[in-house]
Amino acid sequence: MLKKTLLLSAIAATCCVNAGGQNYPKLGTDPIDEVINAMTLDEKLDMVIGAAGIDTDEKATIGNSSELVPGAAGQTNAIPRLGIPAIIMADGPAGVRIDPTREGTDKTFYCTHFPVATVVSSTWNTELAGQIGQAMGDETSHYGIDVLLAPATNIMRNPLNGRNYEYYSEDPLLAGKISVAVVNGIQSNGVGTSLKHFALNNQETNRTSNNVVGSPRTFREIYLKPFEIVVKETQPWTVMTSYNRINGTMASERADLVTEILRHEWGFNGMVVSDWFGGQYATAQMEAGNDLIMPGKTAQREELKRSIVNGHISMEIIDRNIRHILEFIMRTPTFKGHKADNNPDLKAHALITRNAATEGMVLLKNDGGALPLAGGTRKVAVFGRTSYDFIAGGTGSGNVNHAYVVSLTEGLGNAGLRIDRKVQKAYLDYIPKAKAALDKGKKERDRFLPEKLIDEMELPQDMLDKAAKGNDMAIITIGKTSGESMERNVSDNFNLTPAELKMVEGVCGAFHKAGKKVVVILNVCGPVETETWTSMPDAILCVWLPGQEGGNSVADVLTGKECPSGRLPMTWVKRYADVCNKADFPMPDEISEDLINKALAAFKDKRTEGTVRNFDYTEYNEGVYVGYRYYTTKGVSVAYPFGYGLSYTTFEQGRPEVSVNADGDITVRTTVKNTGGMAGKDVVQVYVSAPGKDMDKPARELKGFAKTRKLAPGETQTVEIKIPYVSLASFNEKDSQWQVESGEYKVMVASDAADMAPMTVTVSEKGRVTERVRPCLLKEMK
Ligand code: BGC
Repeated sequence: MLKKTLLLSAIAATCCVNAGGQNYPKLGTDPIDEVINAMTLDEKLDMVIGAAGIDTDEKATIGNSSELVPGAAGQTNAIPRLGIPAIIMADGPAGVRIDPTREGTDKTFYCTHFPVATVVSSTWNTELAGQIGQAMGDETSHYGIDVLLAPATNIMRNPLNGRNYEYYSEDPLLAGKISVAVVNGIQSNGVGTSLKHFALNNQETNRTSNNVVGSPRTFREIYLKPFEIVVKETQPWTVMTSYNRINGTMASERADLVTEILRHEWGFNGMVVSDWFGGQYATAQMEAGNDLIMPGKTAQREELKRSIVNGHISMEIIDRNIRHILEFIMRTPTFKGHKADNNPDLKAHALITRNAATEGMVLLKNDGGALPLAGGTRKVAVFGRTSYDFIAGGTGSGNVNHAYVVSLTEGLGNAGLRIDRKVQKAYLDYIPKAKAALDKGKKERDRFLPEKLIDEMELPQDMLDKAAKGNDMAIITIGKTSGESMERNVSDNFNLTPAELKMVEGVCGAFHKAGKKVVVILNVCGPVETETWTSMPDAILCVWLPGQEGGNSVADVLTGKECPSGRLPMTWVKRYADVCNKADFPMPDEISEDLINKALAAFKDKRTEGTVRNFDYTEYNEGVYVGYRYYTTKGVSVAYPFGYGLSYTTFEQGRPEVSVNADGDITVRTTVKNTGGMAGKDVVQVYVSAPGKDMDKPARELKGFAKTRKLAPGETQTVEIKIPYVSLASFNEKDSQWQVESGEYKVMVASDAADMAPMTVTVSEKGRVTERVRPCLLKEMK
């Protein structure tokens, strides 16, 4: 009865104002409640459902449904009579993704392709992450966009996830702290962010239906933690819910996630938006507190209208969500009358991306000081298809329509090196032909899937021998990319292909015979297997997907203009079989076309009964033992641990002074001295080993980190790292509370997660419950 009355008053609201409109309440001038009260039912639906008006049940796809800014992911509906403008949202985590050209004008609208998120977290430098965010937000503003759909802070649970390149780390603290900096940087321009994908979107396979099965402790301590850090330390304007189910229910349809945890526990005061086409029932999404459904389907609108008219959902819920949307709209540049000038300073941003990318590069191996290149190096032979066709970023919504990508050979050329012409010509002949052959076999469905890479070309022995004779050294690039909708394969993406291995072997053989060095550049979307070939080259530099200035950035590190200071934000295992959750993650090589089609049909019919393991559902059986938490606890030896990275210079970290205040907060002070011959930066990593009493604990967990400034040879910096008492708490799910166990805590300053001889100080802490919360995300919940 109440619902019907509210509905009638909403409809009646429009009759009370004059047809000219001057008496309508206006957003920003009149109280929000008056604006909401003046809305017709259709206008209310306009508010909560995006403007795309798509009438399709097609699977979730990459968004570009904005009419106002071509290529932007989507926009909301305007209600001019109430002073409500349409708001525009665009991807994504490596820069603004909009169409670079528009009909009727020769002007271009390119955006800077910044280093992908993995590069940003590899810097371990929150200040730098903030600068990158600042530049991204500046472009967002210049192109007239209100919200950049970034950052994406899902945990890298398994190295095969196709979207890991958009994410920051396997560790919640590192992912959270870097995300805070990125949000602050972007939002300092007066535009918004969308912290995504909330939560537990850790696989792409069957992503719009996959049911994540796990325990509240696992979810809260690991997967929700980076989101919690961001929401508590800064306020992103929006949070984007994820596609997957959690213990049986769609993330966007879970009130315990988007209202209880996000708003009540963490204090989020922005707008919750769905991922594009995500969720099954608009009504359930509204009830849960998912304020805005994007990009907006007519079927969702009709469903919600039926629910309202039939009294299946109360108008208070709809109005609550509209209030969140309107409060958000009032913050936007569009609402404030900001006009796009479409003229960002792309040159300045190119410099920012060039410099930032160098700091995220991780030097994995450097035998005999192979790097930086010796002063006399002039001529280099460059191998590997991606040396000539460098990969700036990944595919899907995390891609950016950049104006150019500096290839490695261009970068080396710009740094004054001479590239072997014969080798270069062979690649420049081979690459277009191989690409054309690959395109021929492309199926229609492949349009949505990550780009396939051509394989390496055969390198005749006499070409190798001549190159070894005529050059000072060799550089090989291994390239791997990935993207939305699909995981990486083990066979040719995590592992090197036989052709790539043959290339490494052939080049190293010929050049070493001639007494020359070989450097391998990893232009990759995530960890690759290195165990079988790591002994061959003299140096290995992981440059990830470093953005559009890639070649220049790599050259800056190779030549020693910049000293590498990146550290791995995830573990590199020796072989895929060592991965902590390999049994509970899809093996893309085993997912058949038939299975995918069945899943798409089930999603369309809103069916949930699938029973295929790691496809319909995925069990997080490893619990909190994700990444290094597993490898260090179980004593699994890895290729390169979390936190690992070499430098051209050397540092000495002093014995840490550790103090605990009355509240139990820990402060770690240590000195870092550059003891080598080159200016560079170091990273201080503090791990804590907690006593396991009520709960079992990983052998160590990162609890704090800091990056030094660039230290000149001989220079020392004192670093102070604070570890709040509450951050020592684990989640006791039996009593649904965060609690710190009493006892001895080992505070370790370590060079990486596997450092066997960290500098350790033991402190004792009193036990205490730090927070009691409502039981959420339980397994039984349907
Ligand atoms: C992705 C989101 C993205 C959205 C809009 C979805 O497919 O999961 O990350 O922001 O599309 O393009």
